[in-house]
Amino acid sequence: MGSKWVLVLVIFIFVSLQGCLSQTSGCWEEERVALLQLKHFFNRPNSLRDWVELGDCCQWEAVTCNGSTGRVISLFLQDTRDRELRESYLNASLFSAFGQLMALNLSRNSIAGFVENKGSDKLLRLSNLENLDLSYNRFNNNIFSSLGALSSLKELYLNDNGLKGVVNVSGLDSLYNLESLHMGNNEIGKLIFPKGLRALKYLYLENVGIHDASSLVSIPSLATLDLSYNNFSEMTTTQEYLHNFTFIEQLRLDGSSLHISLLQSIVVVTSPRELWMQNCQSQWRLRFSRVLE
Ligand SMILES: *[C@@H]1O[C@H](CO)[C@@H](O)[C@H](O)[C@H]1NC(C)=O
Ligand SMILES: *[C@@H]1O[C@H](CO)[C@@H](O)[C@H](O)[C@H]1NC(C)=O
Ligand SMILES: *[C@@H]1O[C@H](CO)[C@@H](O)[C@H](O)[C@H]1NC(C)=O
Ligand SMILES: *[C@@H]1O[C@H](CO)[C@@H](O)[C@H](O)[C@H]1NC(C)=O
Ligand SMILES: *[C@@H]1O[C@H](CO)[C@@H](O)[C@H](O)[C@H]1NC(C)=O
Ligand SMILES: *[C@@H]1O[C@H](CO)[C@@H](O)[C@H](O)[C@H]1NC(C)=O
Repeated sequence: MGSKWVLVLVIFIFVSLQGCLSQTSGCWEEERVALLQLKHFFNRPNSLRDWVELGDCCQWEAVTCNGSTGRVISLFLQDTRDRELRESYLNASLFSAFGQLMALNLSRNSIAGFVENKGSDKLLRLSNLENLDLSYNRFNNNIFSSLGALSSLKELYLNDNGLKGVVNVSGLDSLYNLESLHMGNNEIGKLIFPKGLRALKYLYLENVGIHDASSLVSIPSLATLDLSYNNFSEMTTTQEYLHNFTFIEQLRLDGSSLHISLLQSIVVVTSPRELWMQNCQSQWRLRFSRVLE
């Protein structure tokens, strides 16, 4: 009789201890397994060394969890892929375990695109993601359609990639929360902007060789526009469309070749509160603040 009770008690203590252990281990099993799968791709020697089979993945390098839920909220995977490898395609499904992810840095990994087994072209499905850094990779114009499901996205970095020629950003049409888009140092000739980006405030297009940016006038909330290091003498429609940028607060034109008549039309018609210009050849620098106020 007594020994039976002791057995029940021992089993009870064992079961409660088990529960206790899996709770204090912090990270979620599903997310730990997904991280280990990602490690095959982010395989640079000496990086992510503590990503090993067992342990609390919330303590691993490059991972941040929410302290109360134990869910992964940030992944800093920049510069973690083996440099010897040529351009590569990343399986977007490997991120589907991270339902609470808010920030993802994939910068400097020679990634050329996302793939998945099958399904729609909106590959990355992370409904809480707010900040995505894809800079210094090899993404081409197709990247925009892969990102169309990131409904919480606020900040997107696509600078220093392989965007080329006519760049149609319409894949981002449903990203109503997107505030900041970085696309500098690409080879964009013409930009096609959708109407849906109604939160977009900051647009960075430095050194992209742009010659047709007329669709930018359809972005209603644009406050900061960086067009520095572009060749405006090639831009046939510049004067016409700059007239329409009446809402811009900060316009950056450093290092861009401009004709003086164009400058007048910017200052008088567009009246930005801040206008930044610097011309390396003639060593002059201008900064107007609240030009007409
Ligand atoms: C952690 O998760 C809780 C519950 O979902 C949430 O209230 C809190 O804001 C989160 N904290 C961070 C830093 O994300
Ligand atoms: C991503 O990592 C790179 C390289 O360390 C860093 O320069 C960049 O600021 C990071 N991106 C964000 C959005 O913090
Ligand atoms: C992508 O990852 C998922 C989940 O691990 C897997 O089922 C699928 O086969 C992978 N797809 C490719 C193309 O490797
Ligand atoms: C841009 O892409 C969208 C769909 O992604 C398409 O409907 C639209 O016609 C394209 N615009 C131009 C000017 O090619
Ligand atoms: C800008 O474009 C004009 C016209 O095509 C060309 O003559 C000039 O050399 C270009 N300037 C630079 C700095 O590339
Ligand atoms: C710029 O504004 C003028 C006058 O309001 C308008 O006729 C023209 O269509 C606009 N241009 C663009 C590219 O929206």
